[in-house]
Amino acid sequence: MNDEKIFNALKKITYPGFSRDIVSFGIVSKAILSDSIAIVELELTTKDDKILENLKNSIKKTLLEVTEVTGVEIVIKNNFQDQNPDNSGSSTVKLGGIKTIIAIASGKGGVGKSTVAVNLACALAQTKTSSEKENQVGLMDCDVYGPSVPQLMGCWERPTVIEENLISPVLNYGVKMISMGLLVDEESPVVWRGPMIMKTIQQFASNVDWGNLDCLLIDLPPGTGDAQLSIAQVLSLDGVIIVTTPQKTAFDVAKRGAKMFEKLNIPYLGVIENMSYMENPITKEKTFPFGNGGGGIIAENLKTRLLAEIPLEEEIRQGGDHGIPIVIGAPEHSSSKEFYSLAARISDEISS
Ligand SMILES: Nc1ncnc2c1ncn2[C@@H]1O[C@H](COP(=O)(O)OP(=O)(O)OP(=O)(O)O)[C@@H](O)[C@H]1O
Ligand SMILES: [Mg+2]
Repeated sequence: MNDEKIFNALKKITYPGFSRDIVSFGIVSKAILSDSIAIVELELTTKDDKILENLKNSIKKTLLEVTEVTGVEIVIKNNFQDQNPDNSGSSTVKLGGIKTIIAIASGKGGVGKSTVAVNLACALAQTKTSSEKENQVGLMDCDVYGPSVPQLMGCWERPTVIEENLISPVLNYGVKMISMGLLVDEESPVVWRGPMIMKTIQQFASNVDWGNLDCLLIDLPPGTGDAQLSIAQVLSLDGVIIVTTPQKTAFDVAKRGAKMFEKLNIPYLGVIENMSYMENPITKEKTFPFGNGGGGIIAENLKTRLLAEIPLEEEIRQGGDHGIPIVIGAPEHSSSKEFYSLAARISDEISS
């Protein structure tokens, strides 16, 4: 009864910067009242001490207002950052080998996030690091409702179970990948609520044997919802790449999506403008069906850089439809070269 009072009080607390409360979001893993002391356990990872302090203060303040409570104890669990990667047995061991984690995001749907994530992952895996080694690359499909990575990667293999609570990612085109699409049948509806998304993403992070990776790319669903917040909670993201198309309607929404990462203190690595232009294969003349310059404007607005302009290209779409990314199927294509030069730039930056 008293425990319920504690939970109900915690439901009034929203995550800093968001309208969602911390209970419905699934951050509170335990809340009990023991001898008038409220003990609250939180499962979260944030790079931001201010957010942590802010949360602790609101919890203390709110719970001390409950009549039965005279003291508050807050325990933070799964704070990956504080854990030692060599600490065998902890859930972060599998993440200990990952050098860089980059999310691919946009507030807007259908702008090509997954296409960019897949082609960039494959191009990175074909690119050597500055010490002339192959880049080890992973791709985590965090679009739990509409996973498209298996289709774009042409791979529906089921991950194998290595041991209890540990599965191996599937390998294709040199990229280790995991997706809800590999774990559920195509027909089975995926009806997940917020905390379930959090749980899935947590499992993708800690129950998948990623091994050593130079870079883990995260494909996010559109918007500013639970997946974005979960990912920022569960993983220590090194940065986020914002994808947009050039038209104004797209970039306003893309920008709104980007701003949420700013609130979570995750740095922008840059903006990719997708479907930037069409190139006449013979004359090389460029036309701009969706207008010109939107990516540059967002980049400027977010005080970051424009990383690449990827053309609107039938072969990119066909590559996706056939499950052979253009960088693999037609590496010499001018669009592939855009992806390879982007990969080279990212490879240099992550290995320096
Ligand atoms: N540069 C491009 N040229 C041609 N077609 C493209 C390009 N980029 C993406 N597409 C096509 O546009 C469609 C949407 O792309 P994609 O699924 O990558 O977008 P998304 O932003 O991940 O979408 P969602 O928001 O649904 O996750 C796909 O059919 C894809 O093949
Ligand atoms: Mg997508």
